[in-house]
Amino acid sequence: MRKVIHLVGGARPNFMKIAPLYHELKERGRHEVRLIHTGQHYDQKMSGNFFEDFNLPNPDINLDVGSGTHADQTGKIMISYEKILLSENPDLVIVVGDTNSTMAACIAAKKINISVAHLESGLRSFDRSMPEEINRIIVDSISDILWAPSHDAVVNLDNEGIKPDRIKEVGNIMIDAYVMMEEAILKQPPLKLDDGVDAYGVVTIHRASNVDSFNTLSTMVDSIISASSNLMLYFPLHPRTKKQLEKFNLFEKLQKIQRLKIIDPLSYIEFMALVRNATVVITDSGGVQEETTYLGISCLTLRDNTERPITVTHGTNKLIKAHELSGELLRLTNRAAVSRPSIPLWDGNAAKRIANHIDEILR
Ligand code: UD1
Repeated sequence: MRKVIHLVGGARPNFMKIAPLYHELKERGRHEVRLIHTGQHYDQKMSGNFFEDFNLPNPDINLDVGSGTHADQTGKIMISYEKILLSENPDLVIVVGDTNSTMAACIAAKKINISVAHLESGLRSFDRSMPEEINRIIVDSISDILWAPSHDAVVNLDNEGIKPDRIKEVGNIMIDAYVMMEEAILKQPPLKLDDGVDAYGVVTIHRASNVDSFNTLSTMVDSIISASSNLMLYFPLHPRTKKQLEKFNLFEKLQKIQRLKIIDPLSYIEFMALVRNATVVITDSGGVQEETTYLGISCLTLRDNTERPITVTHGTNKLIKAHELSGELLRLTNRAAVSRPSIPLWDGNAAKRIANHIDEILR
């Protein structure tokens, strides 16, 4: 009998992890795959565009929870999703990444004894002030199957006393997403740069730790402004960051800077095309640290720690403080191009390995 699988996502970074696995499972046709959208992200720019880019159908179910505090968002997802779980009783729930949607769906399913697999398991920043770290720890401690993207993640799970039979190193699904979309990314027309500009950097910041306090955000803004005198910068603005910049009266200050272009959040294809041709990416995102490592593009991460240390030890990533940004940019723009690192199992075949594992489990 065909088994029923729920593939759950809700926030922007979830969709690129779901897409390669969705298509792989659909192509094999052995199980019934149901797409569940929690509605944590709901804008066309934060959600709809990603469904279009990755050729995902409309979700089978949208819980439409929207924004809220952590408890509010988590609670709403659990209450709505439990109802769906009780009526559909899936054989396996797959949650991805580290968002509130990931944790809420995982708890709702496990509490009624439905098997859960966590895709992108074992990443740790060891910083429990990050909401995502709390989500990761909870999800990994209760999920039945833990699919890890790299060996360091397996070691973290092992150190937490998790039995090896729950863990499988499958590789990095974000690289599958890139490989799957590379043709479309390469076809994307290059950015038309202003006269006299031949290189640019990309800035993305949205983490609560960087944008939620006036002092930190104001220091970030000053550093970005000063860095823009070394390199033209494009800044696709996350809704959380925009809201905070407006709240602290910092938005206009940024808008006035000539060599800094503030733009709307981009679709996956547009964003990767921008990143591919950038000299450097300045970020606090998790996924971007991996994508730049895969592409061999320098990445400066405005954080004290990362749950993706392999991008620092084996890749192109460097953790920096806001006041170091200008100096780091100058150093990078005067340096020869970096080479493209190779990390085991970051090869575009993670979805195939996961689907093979699912076929073994759901026999
Ligand atoms: C969430 C994830 C974070 C991920 C990020 C990517 C958690 C705890 N955090 O953070 O790990 O890196 O998504 O984007 O799950 N908003 C909109 N339109 C939308 C969605 C949100 O305008 O479609 C606004 C809302 O006003 C909201 C704010 O953005 O208050 C933040 O959204 P939220 O989902 O709470 O968290 P993110 O900061 O996006």
